[in-house]
Amino acid sequence: MDDAPTHSANPWPAGGLALVIGASGGIGAALLAHLQADLRFAQVLGLSRSSQPALDLLNEASIAQAAAHVAGLGQPLRLLIDATGLLHSPGQPPEKSWQQLDPVQMAQAFAVNAIGPALLMKHFLPLLPRQGHAVFVTLSAKVGSIGDNKLGGWYSYRASKAALNQLVHTAAIELRRRQPQALCVALHPGTVATALSAPFAKTGLQVQAPDHAAARLLGVIDGLQAADSGGFFNHDGSVLPW
Ligand SMILES: NC(=O)c1ccc[n+]([C@@H]2O[C@H](COP(=O)([O-])OP(=O)(O)OC[C@H]3O[C@@H](n4cnc5c(N)ncnc54)[C@H](OP(=O)(O)O)[C@@H]3O)[C@@H](O)[C@H]2O)c1
Repeated sequence: MDDAPTHSANPWPAGGLALVIGASGGIGAALLAHLQADLRFAQVLGLSRSSQPALDLLNEASIAQAAAHVAGLGQPLRLLIDATGLLHSPGQPPEKSWQQLDPVQMAQAFAVNAIGPALLMKHFLPLLPRQGHAVFVTLSAKVGSIGDNKLGGWYSYRASKAALNQLVHTAAIELRRRQPQALCVALHPGTVATALSAPFAKTGLQVQAPDHAAARLLGVIDGLQAADSGGFFNHDGSVLPW
């Protein structure tokens, strides 16, 4: 049985554009496929470092150009899902101890996991319509929760996702003033079988297929209410501690 959260009411105004950033990733590609199969949006677009136009979080000009491209499509931007993120890169596993802290690795994690999504907010939040439901989602991670941190380790990833959560909460306050019907939230997708999680997938851990995770996340997104803006939610829709 599919245990994805389901919501019968369709919160989306007719037409409009759904955009996935990080569409080349494991979860991003699955989200894009689900949205393309879902006729609730008039247009569905995926962007990544390899799309046309390309969007690289480390290059603000590429983000601005991508936002201009999206604005030029002429559809109201109803849903943006940021599915980018970085946990490890070649030769740089997440830190197990403070002895492994490396300023270059830390800066890279903050650049991709916090500053990049903040620049997405800068260039894409103004595109959310002033009228009608619209949602900006960024994929965070439960390990970015300070309240939930019992294991330690993964310093850069944890801290950059905690920074991301603060950015989401802060942007939601400004968004409420500018576009009162639009929401900005952070979601934890659960453990999902992708390149990001592959080196750490332990037997016994509940690992979801990307397709299943995408369905669950879209169920949570469909159920979001105005009061949820600025929040940090698990893939079952429950609230996560900061
Ligand atoms: N998988 C899990 O178990 C899990 C658990 C908790 C949270 N998350 C979060 O879920 C999100 C998606 O993760 P995933 O598992 O789907 O990872 P993934 O398969 O490794 O995908 C990561 C995505 O981020 C993009 N990206 C990385 N650096 C970028 C940059 N400089 N500019 C633009 N895009 C960049 C990648 O693009 P390229 O293809 O160009 O490299 C790719 O599209 C991440 O935020 C991750 O932290 C995942």
